[in-house]
Amino acid sequence: MTKQELIRAAFAAREKAYAPYSRFKVGAALEAKDGRVFTGCNIESATYTPTCCAERTALVKAVSEGVREFSRIAIVGAAEGKVNTLVTSPCGVCRQFLYEFGGDELEVILAKNEEDYLEMTLGQLLPIGFGPANLE
Ligand code: THU
Repeated sequence: MTKQELIRAAFAAREKAYAPYSRFKVGAALEAKDGRVFTGCNIESATYTPTCCAERTALVKAVSEGVREFSRIAIVGAAEGKVNTLVTSPCGVCRQFLYEFGGDELEVILAKNEEDYLEMTLGQLLPIGFGPANLE
């Protein structure tokens, strides 16, 4: 899958966002090392706290299907009905959750659209992360 296709998949996932409280809709497309793509959207709750970010939704879908190795994730977000002016960067909890399975090498694409995006590694977003290796 090209980068543009992965970003497009994240935008399609964003359409499913359930965000009646923040009205900020996020989509993520997580590419596994075997080439499969798992998408996710943010899902909010009337009690606020249990909100699940798009990135974690995608990761939970993948891991629960037995997939644990990932190469890239594309993330897009914007307020409902608006065009994003900033990239949507994963929250601290999502960085940690992704680190569990992606480690330093996971490529993260923060996209405003298919042509305008930032690319970085999870190691840059979460330096010296604590992961499974630390417990060995
Ligand atoms: N959100 C995500 O889904 N991913 C991010 O990277 C940032 C924030 C969601 C959580 C909440 O539903 C809404 O965006 C506003 O914070």
